Amino acid sequence: NTHPLQDQLRRPIHDLRISVTDRCNFRCSYCMPKEIFGEDYAFLPASELLTFDEICRLTRLFVSLGVSKIRLTGGEPLMRRHLPELVTKISAIPGVEDMGLTTNGVLLGGQAAPLYAAGLRRLNVSLDALEPELFGRMNGRGFRPGMILEAIDQAAAAGFEVKVNMVVQRGVNESEILPMAAYFKKRKITLRFIEFMDVGNDNGWSYDKVVTKQEILQQLQSVYTLEALEQNYSGEVAQRYGYLGSPAQVGFITSVSESFCSTCSRARLSSDGKLYTCLFASKGFDLRIMLRGGAGDEELLAAIKQVWEQRSDRYSDERTEETHRSKAKIGMSYIGG
Ligand code: GTP
Ligand code: 5AD
Ligand code: SF4
Ligand code: SF4
Repeated sequence: NTHPLQDQLRRPIHDLRISVTDRCNFRCSYCMPKEIFGEDYAFLPASELLTFDEICRLTRLFVSLGVSKIRLTGGEPLMRRHLPELVTKISAIPGVEDMGLTTNGVLLGGQAAPLYAAGLRRLNVSLDALEPELFGRMNGRGFRPGMILEAIDQAAAAGFEVKVNMVVQRGVNESEILPMAAYFKKRKITLRFIEFMDVGNDNGWSYDKVVTKQEILQQLQSVYTLEALEQNYSGEVAQRYGYLGSPAQVGFITSVSESFCSTCSRARLSSDGKLYTCLFASKGFDLRIMLRGGAGDEELLAAIKQVWEQRSDRYSDERTEETHRSKAKIGMSYIGG
């Protein structure tokens, strides 16, 4: 292709994050606060979710435009029925070079083997604390970390490349930074510290609740010697560090203190088929209505191209108290992070 697709800031399209369900068995306050996602919250009915065939058709089209990396997300993706079938189908698409799944790990024990058999090799497991009471409070449902830790060990033993994501919030779980680091260093599993972000409109975010990379790094450096590692590829979300004398690594996802919009090449597809060009977008482009209205591949491709060519999002570069308050943003659990 002589004219690679680029957006307004000359960023190519490289990753597609696909949300397969808007449901989750957790109620993390920073993502699906209980007060909003209560008993009578209306999740999407099954008929509104893209079918696996629809997801695969779109994935093929995105791949033809430059996507080679796929991430499956939710809500909690393991709550989508028959997920391994989707993994098999996406793995078979020529041009898909990398696929990962982001999960809270509760259902992983039962599903790791079929997912591996279907071709999945990379798992990012979210875990915010080791201390059971605190973890139970943070996930809003009283789940204990034990079962998730076991599932992580089993998945790693089965051959998955596993990373752990920890969202750090001031006054909530900073005390878990060092215990988490020690636990996962010992297991040679990469732990990534994520700066608390103002996703959605009701997650209680404010600047003073963000524990920045610098603060976390300082805590770690009081115990360990760390050295910054080269990025694996341009546009990598996490900044990685290695522990001296150990193959273990940690990462930092610094959306607040050191935003990375200038190299952002990620498109997001919601479970009901809307295309979003930023995690903090207000509005998506409805691809499902085209799919179900009988649009041909050329028509779909033209639409996707146009959306990407018009893209100028750089929310995290521009974030201020004011934009945080005034911008209507799509919910994290709906768009999948
Ligand atoms: P790999 O590096 O491929 O393993 O995955 P990843 O880190 O891109 O995906 P994951 O789902 O594990 O996301 C980790 C954290 O990064 C989550 O908090 C995401 O919301 C955040 N994140 C991922 N992509 C972006 C992005 O484009 N912008 C912002 N602001 N945050 C992102
Ligand atoms: N800030 C930072 N990370 C978040 N995640 C969910 N909500 C937030 C937030 N407000 C993380 C989850 C998961 C990933 C997909 O996004 O913990 O690891
Ligand atoms: Fe569920 Fe992940 Fe959101 Fe927590 S962060 S509520 S586990 S989707
Ligand atoms: Fe990309 Fe938007 Fe995140 Fe910036 S804030 S890195 S543009 S998704």
